[in-house]
Amino acid sequence: MNVLVTGGAGFIGSHTVVELVQEGHCVTILDNFCNSSRRVLDRLAQVCGERVDVIEGDVRDAALLRRAFAAQQFDAVLHFAGLKAVGESVEQPLAYYDNNVGGSVTLCQAMAEAGVFRLIFSSSATVYGDAERMPIEESFPTGRVTNPYGRSKWMVEEILKDLAASDPRWAIGILRYFNPVGAHPSGLLGEDPRGIPNNLVPYVAQVAVGKLDCISVYGDCYPTRDGTGVRDYIHVVDLARGHLKALAAIMRKPGVNVWNLGRGEGYSVLDVIRAFERASGRPLPYRVVEPRPGDVAECWAATEKAWHELGWRAEYDLDTMMRDVWRWQESNPRGYDDQP
Ligand code: NAD
Ligand code: WQD
Repeated sequence: MNVLVTGGAGFIGSHTVVELVQEGHCVTILDNFCNSSRRVLDRLAQVCGERVDVIEGDVRDAALLRRAFAAQQFDAVLHFAGLKAVGESVEQPLAYYDNNVGGSVTLCQAMAEAGVFRLIFSSSATVYGDAERMPIEESFPTGRVTNPYGRSKWMVEEILKDLAASDPRWAIGILRYFNPVGAHPSGLLGEDPRGIPNNLVPYVAQVAVGKLDCISVYGDCYPTRDGTGVRDYIHVVDLARGHLKALAAIMRKPGVNVWNLGRGEGYSVLDVIRAFERASGRPLPYRVVEPRPGDVAECWAATEKAWHELGWRAEYDLDTMMRDVWRWQESNPRGYDDQP
């Protein structure tokens, strides 16, 4: 298939590009590099054994999209491009609605004009808010979200449902990711956050490599096994493979389909720290601080729908995720900036 991957230079997009190329698809990345490095493209060439076509630009640029869709016939679009920092979204809500909602609308308009109706959208488990019970099924209510980032994902989901209802040619897969972590087993691709990481695993990795001093554990009084927050961590390579299965499924199934992409198991903050200590062989200092506002106690996926409808489930366990993050972090202590 000829696939356009928006945000394909980012953390999840780049790993998905590898899986697409390895499965024989023809890939074009569209990225404005606002949260990624151009050096990802060299690493992708190393891993894939070929250079991937790239359009440098913004998904909100309608003229650019028109030119891209006129230049070649795409069979489908995987839409990763967007902003993803929860705290930043509270401070800059308009930037988030503009990029995440506006960008998705502009993209869908350009797709419809070009007669391309297959779309995979990166949504998030955050749309479920504080779910009443675990594991979280796709049919659970959505929309009770506590921040603009999460709301932007929920809004795009609703827009895509309206769109599919308006025209039967649309075939859309909405993928609700749980907590993507890990890195490519080659050690060449991984997560490279700018500044101090907001998320647990990149933070832990930077403590292990000596860039940061001490992990802050956000609360130990949650009603969980050890009192710390529980999440469904999923290896980014597993997640990437889920996209290929979803792409195959929407070829058979028009309309809108929603799938959770998670492992279906919850691990606490302390489980993650211990697993990273095993992976790195280093003791990791931590201190318990106040809970982070807006955090839920626990969150993990029901995985049956993805298994039955996509034939997909995650393979890699927490130790493998942490081993691969450590390999990436140790060999690229300054992320992609280490390359000349
Ligand atoms: P990322 O920031 O690493 O990748 C996003 C990419 O999109 C970056 O390369 C960035 O430069 C690009 N981009 C952003 N705005 C753009 C625009 N307007 N035009 C063109 N390119 C643009 O993020 P990621 O972790 O790879 O996440 C990918 C998608 O998955 C995002 O939509 C994110 O919201 C969603 N998601 C991520 C997580 C997570 O924990 N990482 C969880 C759930 C959902
Ligand atoms: C995991 C656990 C924290 C940092 C976020 C977004 C979500 C999705 C994935 C995009 C929680 C605890 C964290 C730290 C800690 N992103 N923690 N110390 O919050 O589950 O999800 O990323 O869609 O929308 O909200 O992930 O990695 O930030 O936190 O104790 O320094 O680790 O309280 O229990 P989260 P996270």
